Amino acid sequence: MNDIETASGAVSRLQDHPDWLYLLREFEALYRYGSTGGSASIRSHNKQVRDRLSAVLSSNPEIVERTPETKPVTAHLARALDLGERAAMQGMARAMREVRGQLCWEYGYAKVPKALARKYAFCDVVGPRGPVLSTKLVLGFVLFAPATTYPQHSHKEIEESYISISGAWSENDAAVYAPGSLILNRAGVEHRITTGIRDPCLLAYAWVGPEERLSAPGMVLSPSRPPRPR
Ligand SMILES: [Fe+2]
Repeated sequence: MNDIETASGAVSRLQDHPDWLYLLREFEALYRYGSTGGSASIRSHNKQVRDRLSAVLSSNPEIVERTPETKPVTAHLARALDLGERAAMQGMARAMREVRGQLCWEYGYAKVPKALARKYAFCDVVGPRGPVLSTKLVLGFVLFAPATTYPQHSHKEIEESYISISGAWSENDAAVYAPGSLILNRAGVEHRITTGIRDPCLLAYAWVGPEERLSAPGMVLSPSRPPRPR
């Protein structure tokens, strides 16, 4: 195991890592006090996230040491955090800044399109692989470079929400989302993301679903399809 062992041999836990704890409190506040826009589906999703997060916080879970890792897109993180600290999500942006050197950025896909490999990465904060251990909830961040298209995909049995921290983006060409927006992707629903051309885009995400699926989400991009007839 790669658990952090303290000098006394005890496993390292959340209460020993105030920076992780305060970051999770920012997630908790967003899912507890953020508006659901009158949507029953979003209200239900937010409740699931905060119930699971409350259970994580009260269990004082183990912290798993993961080797920090960067990806090409993380060169844009400083700008994303700077913009985030000036806008609606400043609490989250500041809390993320405190843990940025400990984050393990990854692609999640066995095969990443070459263009996407330079413009996208995500890092889990809570989940079956840590750093804050939970088998029932995944929380983290996804970062996009300016002018990125994140190809169409869906998540089997996993309900996903994004909360916009900085930058502007669109999903399925339906709207432009600004910091503070919450977008719900029901399990299995296809989605494709594009980001603004000038600045990077940073989103927080939450995944809820069956434990076995959260530990093996099997991320795949959907095969590209011809454009839909207008
Ligand atoms: Fe997604």
